[in-house]
Amino acid sequence: MLPDSVRIVEVGARDGLQNLPTPVSPEIRAQLVDLLSQSGLRHIETGSFVSPKSVPQMAESDQVFQTIYRQDNVVYAALTPNLRGMEDALKAGANEAAVFASASEGFSQKNINCSIAESLKRFEPVMELAKQHNIPVRGYVSCIISCPYDGETTPQQVAEVTKALYQMGCYEVSLGDTVGTGTPLRVKKVLEACNRNVPMEHLAAHYHNTYGQALANIYASLEEGLAVVDSAVAGLGGCPYAPGASGNVATEDVLYLMEGLNIKTGIQMDKLLKAATFICKQLGIRSRSSTGLALKPH
Ligand code: HMG
Ligand code: MG
Repeated sequence: MLPDSVRIVEVGARDGLQNLPTPVSPEIRAQLVDLLSQSGLRHIETGSFVSPKSVPQMAESDQVFQTIYRQDNVVYAALTPNLRGMEDALKAGANEAAVFASASEGFSQKNINCSIAESLKRFEPVMELAKQHNIPVRGYVSCIISCPYDGETTPQQVAEVTKALYQMGCYEVSLGDTVGTGTPLRVKKVLEACNRNVPMEHLAAHYHNTYGQALANIYASLEEGLAVVDSAVAGLGGCPYAPGASGNVATEDVLYLMEGLNIKTGIQMDKLLKAATFICKQLGIRSRSSTGLALKPH
């Protein structure tokens, strides 16, 4: 049975913008976040407190947090790879944090410069500080299907890291098909493996759309009982450490699918399209959302 409602976690202002050739100003990033919140999205990744040498596009995330027009019922989340990141996120007023690990060693090394085990150790004080400040922490597991450096990932590898993040206190673990090579059967196997240790209501789908399979993978995940989906407005994005991987599944496409399935999201398509038009104009690009192009050709 499919869920009655799905929570969409909008990652466009973070995952979407972190891979662009030229950084976008904090003002434009904040405007994007505001347009997204006006569309009814209630969970918005707003920035990353990572090394600006590693990801210059996410520099000045504190200014994005300062500039946004905050709505009471919206979660404004930030990526926090280490204690310094969490301290900065707290100063900036993020009301949720996310730690990110990988199911594969190669990506872990390239992305955060340490092994999987070291990353989990590094997250312990991050979780502790978040707890002291009552900040919920989400966990990410990257490369749930394949890794740009190590090749195929097994469901067991994903399940182990997912369990570790959940046990350390992440209220939800988002499963990242970073490279976007997944297909429904593979994704279901990963979910089944993770679900042996973590209840389905604490798992989320974070699928990149490189091979055009993300919507099919989301549908397969809903069939497994999952009800939280990450997506990026206009299908923006990619990861600086996953060359060739394309953006996240587009929020407009996910919304169209949910509307067709009578699944509630609380998001208004027309307002979401405004956010998409705004950011595509700013970037001088065409939307990567099929729904966006059909409803509002740019
Ligand atoms: P490191 O080099 O091992 O760390 O990097 P370090 O502690 O040795 O510090 C090195 C330098 O970074 C120092 O500066 C630190 O001050 C600075 P220097 O002395 O050289 O001038 N530094 C920081 N600066 C600002 N904020 C911080 C911070 N920490 C250290 N928090 C580190 C380790 C994790 C910091 C680095 O590798 C990094 O920032 N990586 C970022 C990776 C990233 O953001 N990747 C993209 C997001 S993940 C993703 O997209 C996947 C996801 O979407 C899911 C999916 O699709 O799979 C979530
Ligand atoms: Mg991603």
